[in-house]
Amino acid sequence: MNVSDSELMAGILTQSGHRTVSHIDDADVILLNTCAIRENAETKVINRLEHLNHRKRREGNLIIGVCGCMAQHLRDKLLKAAPYVDLVMGPDAYRNLPMALNAVANGDPFLGLQLDKSEDYADIAPIRKEGIRAWLTIQRGCDKMCTFCIVPFVRGRERSLPLKLLTDDVQRLVDEGFKEIVLLGQTVNSYHDGQHDFGELLWSIAEVDGVERVRFTSPHPADATDSMIDAMENCPQVCKQLHLPLQSGSTPVLERMRRTYTAEEYNELVSKLRERIPQIALSTDIIVGFCGETEADFMQTYQLMADIRFDSAFMFKYSDREGTLANKSLEDDVPESEKARRLNEIIKLQEEISANINQDAIGTTASVLVEGDSRRDAEQYHGKTDTFKTTVFPKENAQVGDIVNVEIHSATAHTLIGEIV
Ligand code: 5AD
Repeated sequence: MNVSDSELMAGILTQSGHRTVSHIDDADVILLNTCAIRENAETKVINRLEHLNHRKRREGNLIIGVCGCMAQHLRDKLLKAAPYVDLVMGPDAYRNLPMALNAVANGDPFLGLQLDKSEDYADIAPIRKEGIRAWLTIQRGCDKMCTFCIVPFVRGRERSLPLKLLTDDVQRLVDEGFKEIVLLGQTVNSYHDGQHDFGELLWSIAEVDGVERVRFTSPHPADATDSMIDAMENCPQVCKQLHLPLQSGSTPVLERMRRTYTAEEYNELVSKLRERIPQIALSTDIIVGFCGETEADFMQTYQLMADIRFDSAFMFKYSDREGTLANKSLEDDVPESEKARRLNEIIKLQEEISANINQDAIGTTASVLVEGDSRRDAEQYHGKTDTFKTTVFPKENAQVGDIVNVEIHSATAHTLIGEIV
């Protein structure tokens, strides 16, 4: 989402006569686009700002801005910690960037933190790097109110872009040479533009002339409707891969998180998905050590992960965020050392599962979109399978942007290795 928002900011600033430079040392203006989801994301930004301030002290006219969720979240605290920042701007204020830069150039710091439910940036063309995969924001904000989550407070209420505008965007992206379109939204599958739901959007985008692959992230389990599952099952362009955040395997914890589903319901959804789309790859997000999580609750998460066997998982220690519902009404009572132990246990479990699932892929043939040279070996390409697994293979005659069949002959927990057949 932040990559996509940075492309949007580049679009706005290009319209006003600015241009992006390829090296940070050549920039007169540096905007950090930030995340507030966990405390360590914010800590990283402060460290980066301090580093940039060394340069600002040397070159008085360098402009430093903080944009995005952390700007929205920390406001005054940020200005106290980094008083040299010239510009602070939340996710609904990017339209003011040119004006803000003018104000700053005249010596006035700028604060733009109004959230605006009507702001969807529908008329702004983002500036994307040439490539294979294009991110397309189809929805902004979030209405879910999970108690651990800061997003609704820093990104405002949910709003969807009109279907016709999005299919036109996709046609343009295909004409520019993009092969894979990734639809983005905080709860992407709650998309509704007043007339069309997410399943209809998936069909319409997949049917745009020349689209090779469509993915989306991140869906909410409560919005995994039959309309969405039908499109995933029956539409060849829609990749058979789903990132479906579980968060916890304990129903009482899920209730305190206000996830609106039980562990059993989640498990049933997984069974249904696997029945309808047998080759589907599933990944998830897990939080350990949420308020009141007992050892028994944690073991339920561990057991459900072992039962479901996700292809991969992002796993986090609960991080208490000021302003969230949990911060106001629940106690962050699991000791840090215990959070760390629980996290390590599920990381270990998931590594084994991912490695086993990848081992099972040996001998099969996967359809892989060629993305570029392998990082380790210029004689090899890397690309992603339909199921979003990184695959490495000798170049043969393939070109970047081709979709090729790769026979897998070995694997690690995170990579498939093979050759084009
Ligand atoms: N603490 C830890 N992890 C969090 N996430 C969201 N908020 C928090 C928090 N306060 C995780 C969730 C979400 C992912 C994007 O980040 O797992 O799905």
